[in-house]
Amino acid sequence: VKSCASLSGVRLALFGFALLACSSEAQAPPAAAVEPLAGLSRELSATFDEGAVLFDTPVRRENGLGPLYTRTSCASCHAGALRGPGLVQKMSVVSEDGVTPASDQSSLAFGHTVRPLAAVDGISSILPPADVPNVKVSARLGPPLLGRGYIEAILDSEIERVAAEQATRTDGIQGRINRVTYASEPNVDRSFHTLAKGDEAIGRFGLKARAATIDDFVADAFQSDMGITTPLRPLELANPSGVTDDGKVGIDADYDSVNLRAMYVRMLELPERHTTEDGARLFAESACADCHVPSLATRADYPIPELAGIRAPVYTDMLLHRMGDALADGVPAEAGGDAEATSFEWRTAPLIGLRFYRAYLHDGRAKTIAEAIEMHRGNGSQANVALERFDALSDSDRAALLAFVAGL
Ligand code: HEC
Ligand code: HEC
Repeated sequence: VKSCASLSGVRLALFGFALLACSSEAQAPPAAAVEPLAGLSRELSATFDEGAVLFDTPVRRENGLGPLYTRTSCASCHAGALRGPGLVQKMSVVSEDGVTPASDQSSLAFGHTVRPLAAVDGISSILPPADVPNVKVSARLGPPLLGRGYIEAILDSEIERVAAEQATRTDGIQGRINRVTYASEPNVDRSFHTLAKGDEAIGRFGLKARAATIDDFVADAFQSDMGITTPLRPLELANPSGVTDDGKVGIDADYDSVNLRAMYVRMLELPERHTTEDGARLFAESACADCHVPSLATRADYPIPELAGIRAPVYTDMLLHRMGDALADGVPAEAGGDAEATSFEWRTAPLIGLRFYRAYLHDGRAKTIAEAIEMHRGNGSQANVALERFDALSDSDRAALLAFVAGL
């Protein structure tokens, strides 16, 4: 674990907040997770730096913020490219059990995402309705973004292979692919993919793997979380006041605004790993590695050479797993915005840089890695078999497994 003092001088400007945290909160986790991929060309390195600055820069009304929005910069929900502190709230009408979506969601006329703030004076925001019973409100912290380029580069055939292997299991661990629709207009940068609006692809991004590519997700984040329209997502989202534009007329930001941020996300390096063979063995024996698959092969033609034709050590199978009632968020498939993923399903979280996080799981409900593991257990969770094995470990083996996960 690096100490605060070992932060390299080069990126100090981006880490003002991290240094503050170091001096004021002795128990805060180390904040040195953001590094570009090792060995980048000078050109890609410059792109990373440009994207990093944009990622941290707030947008204002004159840039086209709103009409409704949740936060004003990417970094406000992905500070230091890690989890939170900003978050998105989801809402859903649920049945008696509190987790199964009700068949009638019509009281949520503007969808399942809360958009609390307005950048156009006098317009109404989208909030959980006070007069509808059984509305479940849940939180999604902005997830960590480290290593997401590795994830984009993984071969479809690898994800399909793992899903097919799991389909034959009898111990409950059976993930499935979220088949999603590319929802943006085609990108002018055709080097990463040539998807057109409506094309089907394997979902990889988002807590329920609802988007196939990083640029699609970035354009979605702009439109949905910040009210910034781009050529990929040219229309402002519907809102209760019927306002169709904001302080900046027309499309708010250009292709570069999306693509530079997407390139920054793609080139975030995995933090240095501190693991032991013993820990890896316990991780596999406890069935953790069946969902958190240690590595998957990447495309040979991925445009960032450092990520092409390698084994991506991302510790996820990219599949959706039913994780039980306690983690369910009540958000329905399709209409809820997560493509085929149901209330009960989550994408296996990539295990990358966990020692830098302040909180774990999609809503940060776990304060430690041990708590996060404990919370895999529950009625209907595919991870129950792993938890049984975890329980059976000796104290020293359990400590070694926790240290292994922290070292990822
Ligand atoms: C209001 C908070 C918020 C803001 C602002 C925000 N995000 Fe996110 N981001 C989230 C949440 C929450 C998710 C998970 C969403 C989901 O699964 O529904 C997410 C997911 C992502 C993912 C997918 C990560 C993964 O593990 O699959 C990427 C990439 C991303 N955001 C990039 C960005 C970029 C770039 C910006 C700025 C243009 C941005 N985000 C702005 C909250 C935010
Ligand atoms: C059935 C598949 C499955 C198995 C088995 C499994 N996990 Fe997970 N794990 C997940 C999913 C899905 C999430 C995300 C859940 C959420 O965010 O609500 C997750 C999240 C985590 C997190 C939190 C990551 C973060 O970003 O906060 C940790 C830590 C973790 N798992 C460790 C383990 C360990 C250790 C084991 C073995 C004892 C294990 N998992 C077994 C599917 C699984």
